[in-house]
Amino acid sequence: MQLFIDSADVAELRAVAASGLIDGVTTNPSLIAKSGRKMKDAIAEICSIIPGPVSAEAVATDMEGMLAEGRYLARIASNVVVKLPLTENGLRACRTLSDEGIRVNVTLCFSAVQALLAAKAGAYFISPFIGRLDDKGVDGMDLIRDIRRIYDNYGFATNILSASIRSVEHVRQAALAGSDCATLPPKTFAAMYKHELTDSGVEAFLKDWASTGQSIL
Ligand code: G3P
Repeated sequence: MQLFIDSADVAELRAVAASGLIDGVTTNPSLIAKSGRKMKDAIAEICSIIPGPVSAEAVATDMEGMLAEGRYLARIASNVVVKLPLTENGLRACRTLSDEGIRVNVTLCFSAVQALLAAKAGAYFISPFIGRLDDKGVDGMDLIRDIRRIYDNYGFATNILSASIRSVEHVRQAALAGSDCATLPPKTFAAMYKHELTDSGVEAFLKDWASTGQSIL
């Protein structure tokens, strides 16, 4: 499963990219606002840090506006993926941009039939929001399982990008459900390394090693 980072903070992204484990980045208007940067500058810098797909979201709600913003964003760097909301206009714009060779990430997906429409519109990624469904008392992971099954039933190539991930348990379940990618806040990515038995195991090995008085080099 590919791991993306959900952030527009370049310092944070540089630090996480050093792991060598990050395949891409997702941003949204809220994350760009939080960064305090001009969108074009932030996206250009992020694209230079991470060579994989970097999602940049349009904010127009009409189709012509989405197309204009999408084409503009796609020109920032070759690894930009244009993010559009799962609305009727968003999917019409997705079809047009996809036909032009621009990759589109259809976002704010909350149902399997929405994901079916996005695939038919040529979306490169579909972003189902797990945490926000959980917040409503619905198991967000059921949506990932349903989309996986529908896409496999019909051979859709659209990649499932599990979003609104809030925990390492979400990552585990998304991987088991066959999600192609997951986008995580940096702190959730950092938590994936952690296990108390790893920490106590390292501590015990080092204590025993120290008692030998040896050094490897
Ligand atoms: O970027 C989209 C998504 O990952 C947002 O997550 O935690 O704001 O629901 P969240």
